Amino acid sequence: DIPSLAETFADDFPIGAAIEPFQTEGPKAELLKKHVNWLVAENVMKPDAIQPSEGTFKWTNADRIVAFAKENGMALRFHTLVWHSQVGAWFFKDAEGRPMADETDPAKREANKKLLLERLDAHVRTIVDRYKDDIASWDVVNEVIEPADPDGMRASDWYNIAGTDFIATAFRAAREAGGPDIKLYINDYGTDNPRKRDLLYELVKRLLDEGVPIDGVGHQTHIDVHGPSVDAIIASMRKFAELGLDNIVTELDMSVYAWNDRRDFGADIPEDVIELQAKRYGELFRAFRDNKAILSGVVFWGIADDHTWLNGFPVKRTNAPLLFDRNDQAKPAFWSVIGISSHS
Ligand code: G3I
Repeated sequence: DIPSLAETFADDFPIGAAIEPFQTEGPKAELLKKHVNWLVAENVMKPDAIQPSEGTFKWTNADRIVAFAKENGMALRFHTLVWHSQVGAWFFKDAEGRPMADETDPAKREANKKLLLERLDAHVRTIVDRYKDDIASWDVVNEVIEPADPDGMRASDWYNIAGTDFIATAFRAAREAGGPDIKLYINDYGTDNPRKRDLLYELVKRLLDEGVPIDGVGHQTHIDVHGPSVDAIIASMRKFAELGLDNIVTELDMSVYAWNDRRDFGADIPEDVIELQAKRYGELFRAFRDNKAILSGVVFWGIADDHTWLNGFPVKRTNAPLLFDRNDQAKPAFWSVIGISSHS
């Protein structure tokens, strides 16, 4: 019998996984119960899943994950109240059904912005109100920074129509509906990249100065066996901690391919790559443990290699980014991570 990941790190921080509702039954449910004490929905709490059309809220799939977590004494994260992807197009259409982003008349643009922020406010309040007693940790906005876009802000419909006010509105609505006990995060990938990190830092600092209630930064941490460096990942957390913010590793996985590599190893991932992955996962968790004062949890984006977005992105191929293989067996990376807990 192998050790439990979550129990091994019990003195350090919670260990989580992103799941789909179907994984709350069968062998995956057993694997999750044994190894994680934190859950997040991989897709079913995204805007389009919960409010596919205005005023129609679909709770069934999200509720399944909440119920599974409660039955098994696991905590939950919410992902995500706002995103530019997986969001209903209806949010961004004016009263006549035209795309708000196309509007050129200043008065109409102002009216569109008001309508969009009202819709956002209602979306956030309805969801937070339903889950505030079950979910303590919330991704309020996801992936708003884009260094290649003007001002370093992603040129999404949200930003093009409302500027950064959509961010302030979402955080304020979440705080008002959820009260002081829920923790509110701004979540993004590539936060190790100095330019992106600094853009995020400047945004968050300005919002905090304006009194916007942000509690922490979610670092997705979709990395690969070659990069980025563990030091760069930790340096980013330190920087946000200086602002008094919490950090969470929200979507951890480690591709066996470099980011620009389009090969497919197939079922036979080379031994040296598996070993490199184990080594790097160990270094990463050693750094996480050593910095637990500024890091309040680690969530994997999946649990086993048979179900991960990286089997389909950037091309369809066999990837192996997690600690368990396609048969739910512990990989060398698992043992490497277990070896550096505070228990050992
Ligand atoms: O639900 C539909 C289904 O009805 C349809 O038949 C099928 C056909 O393609 O698609 C299904 O939707 C898919 C959805 O996952 C649910 O399985 C989408 O195609 C697919 O694109 C979508 O991918 C998700 C992706 O976000 C969307 O951007 C991944 O599962 C999910 O892991 C990924 O998660 C994101 C985080 O939210 C934010 N950070 C990056 C991370 C990885 O991309």
